[in-house]
Amino acid sequence: MADTPRILVLQGPNLNLLGTREPALYGHTTLDAIHAELAELAKSRGAELEFFQSNHEGALVDRIQEAPSFADGILINPGGLTHTSVVLRDALVATGLPVVEVHLSNVFAREPFRHHSYISPIALGVIAGFGPTSYRLGLEALLARLA
Ligand code: DQA
Repeated sequence: MADTPRILVLQGPNLNLLGTREPALYGHTTLDAIHAELAELAKSRGAELEFFQSNHEGALVDRIQEAPSFADGILINPGGLTHTSVVLRDALVATGLPVVEVHLSNVFAREPFRHHSYISPIALGVIAGFGPTSYRLGLEALLARLA
């Protein structure tokens, strides 16, 4: 790893709607605001972030496949793909990079179909339920692992 850790922050489907999407569950903070906060945190830790959001599984897979050429680790909120996507999991494993999974909501306190994640078994760890703070905690945990 280079002196400056580089993290790919991946956001899955519908997370572009944060701020207006089901605010009782996901809050009023926009994705841009979450990214701005993460960028500030990264700067204070001497890390660099690359952000990517897509509503398309294949576009996320394409970006994940490119990750080893520019990133040391992946912070991901896979959105609904968490509960459905073998291909996202396979792509993440293929990178060989450390992965931290985050969720705004506490998926375990929600519908049973959200209790299973295809990503969690291949992630270093999972942080769920703390709103935008989940991302901050996830980034801290990933940077600590890379240090
Ligand atoms: C989510 C939880 C998922 O179950 C849901 O499909 C999302 C958001 C979260 O951040 O809480 O899109 O990943």
